[in-house]
Amino acid sequence: MVNILAIESSCDETAAAVVSDGRLVRSNIIASQAELHGQYGGVVPEIASRSHLQAIVPVVEEALSAASLGFSQIGAVAVTSGPGLAGALLVGVSYAKALAMALDVPLIAVHHWQGHLSAVFLEHEVEFPFLALVVSGGHSGLVEAVSHGEYRLLGQSLDDAAGEAFDKIARVLGLGYPGGPALERAAQNGAPDAHNFPRAWLAPDSFDFSFSGLKSAVLNHLNRLRMSGHFLSEKEIADIAASAQEAICDVLSAKAIDAAGKLGLKTVAVVGGVAANARLRQLLRQRAGNVRVIWPSPLFCTDNAAMIGVAAWHKWQKGEFSSLALNADPREKLYSVI
Ligand code: KG4
Ligand code: ZN
Repeated sequence: MVNILAIESSCDETAAAVVSDGRLVRSNIIASQAELHGQYGGVVPEIASRSHLQAIVPVVEEALSAASLGFSQIGAVAVTSGPGLAGALLVGVSYAKALAMALDVPLIAVHHWQGHLSAVFLEHEVEFPFLALVVSGGHSGLVEAVSHGEYRLLGQSLDDAAGEAFDKIARVLGLGYPGGPALERAAQNGAPDAHNFPRAWLAPDSFDFSFSGLKSAVLNHLNRLRMSGHFLSEKEIADIAASAQEAICDVLSAKAIDAAGKLGLKTVAVVGGVAANARLRQLLRQRAGNVRVIWPSPLFCTDNAAMIGVAAWHKWQKGEFSSLALNADPREKLYSVI
């Protein structure tokens, strides 16, 4: 059995986990910076890097102590190498390199999407190939997962990621940061059909997404109301939130099920922070037909290091180790794309 110490610092969560043989999560520690960034309405890269620097040592120590393990029992160090914020990634990558060198164990670099994709294996038996809907704050994509590490990118957002749309719309509605959970909460008291916000279906055979039109439509609607001196009631805010959430989830779920049907894939795995959204899950379930739809528990949907530890184990088995010359790659492509 190999205990992998995994580190994730691509955005605003400093996370460390110990995962044994890709399945047993011995610890999963997440230090969120949400409160720090909340006052600015979004992630401030400089603040993120500095906070990672302050948090990384205590977070790793906590991950080890929660797992009741010492450094000597760690067989490999895994880290998110990209994509993400350059300064934020560098903190995790530099720390992981130093630790792997000090412990004299393999270093395993993990693509952030591969981490999100691997989170489904923690709680589900999944057979390849399957369709993955990767929806987070930084990325939205439809991916055919062929095997561990072999992915075919079918489509992605041409502008804002789905989580980014949630965050930006929540911000203009004054709902706070992070916007996804806040908008979902506000939407609970609203009517999803109160506003018919635009859905960008794009070409009939396109698996790409676009959410910037929706964001502009919400903003224009709010500006019109505000310019006429109208003060939004809580119910009106809830209606806008519910209608915007509906527009995002409608497109995501319809495209994912359509793609699975066209490619003959029997399983759809929804991963990334937005996979925690209950309305998205509900619509996918309603539309699934014979397709099996799965998602990780909310804790494994949003950024965490356990998912990096799972992906790393599959790389460990294939001997896919990185050299100590590893660098962070803010724009890293989902490698092994076929
Ligand atoms: O995967 P993640 O933690 O970080 C990135 O890789 O970006 O995803 C964060 C994104 C944020 O945009 C957040 O607002 C969104 O996921 N999110 C949600 C929900 N929980 C998190 N969006 C909609 N509904 C939620 N319940
Ligand atoms: Zn993520």
